[in-house]
Amino acid sequence: MRSTTVFTGAGILAVVAAGVVAACMPREYAPSGQALYNENCAACHGPGGTGDGPASGAYAEPLPDLTTLAARNDGVFPLREVMTQIDGYGRGARVGEGMPEMGHLLDGPVTRVDTGDGIMTPTPVKLLALARHVESLQR
Ligand code: HEC
Repeated sequence: MRSTTVFTGAGILAVVAAGVVAACMPREYAPSGQALYNENCAACHGPGGTGDGPASGAYAEPLPDLTTLAARNDGVFPLREVMTQIDGYGRGARVGEGMPEMGHLLDGPVTRVDTGDGIMTPTPVKLLALARHVESLQR
């Protein structure tokens, strides 16, 4: 019966290990999208997203109106485009001349989200919270 004991022991160990991992994860890591926005975006895009932030004057062109993203996309909020705009992946050569890269917003826990392609893509929780806040600004 020695092998059974070993097996049971391993089983308990696995359960204990899972419990430890669960205890170490912040139960509800829910960063405030609004706070992240105010901290990282409002200086340029304005508190309401209309492009009237104090730093917007540094740009020759008016900043895009973030409250019309859905309206400009057939009424559908372009979640994936907004997230790639923030993380810089989608901008390629435009990085540097327009919006600064926001790589630090990719730190921290990751969740899975379907951005419209039916694939549950691992996505930083902070990035998603920010995009959801921008979504809440839609007119
Ligand atoms: C230093 C100024 C600045 C900051 C800070 C900034 N942006 Fe931008 N953003 C721009 C500029 C300039 C553009 C237009 C040129 C471009 O696309 O790079 C832009 C474009 C965008 C667009 C595309 C809009 C469209 O109509 O296609 C989105 C979405 C956006 N920003 C969201 C954000 C979010 C969310 C944050 C905060 C995480 C942020 N921006 C921070 C300057 C900024």
